[in-house]
Amino acid sequence: MKRRVFFEQLIKFSAISGMSLLTLFGLFPSIFTTKKTSAKLVLGTEEDVFNQATHITKQINDRTLIIKKSTDGAVEAFDASCTHAGCPVRWNEADQTFLCKCHGGIFDYQGIPVAGPPKKPLQKIHVQKRESSGEIILYVMDVSA
Ligand code: FES
Repeated sequence: MKRRVFFEQLIKFSAISGMSLLTLFGLFPSIFTTKKTSAKLVLGTEEDVFNQATHITKQINDRTLIIKKSTDGAVEAFDASCTHAGCPVRWNEADQTFLCKCHGGIFDYQGIPVAGPPKKPLQKIHVQKRESSGEIILYVMDVSA
């Protein structure tokens, strides 16, 4: 194969493969990206949500949330993914801490790291209480669809 012919074919192949990738991306963008969205979750009244429990967990697509009552009675929610390496944390009612068993991470009742390798606080989820009905509403950002 002559050198000129080789380069012509190389240019054609590059153009075709580049166009193919652009076409694929245009037609099926979800192949290349993970769609993130936000979610509004209406849980019900405090009595419905907690019954006799001090906390509950809730799964939203790829995320687990821990919803609990604070000592002053307010409802709080946290993403249950440890900020060190993503292992699940558990709420320890007796110590008022979140524990991560993977590497011994401990977060206080506000999700602030107090021991172990985590340096960032747990992600707090925005909670609102509907005044008219008393329903608890969670606003969760970046939920994979
Ligand atoms: S993943 Fe939680 S302490 Fe490492």
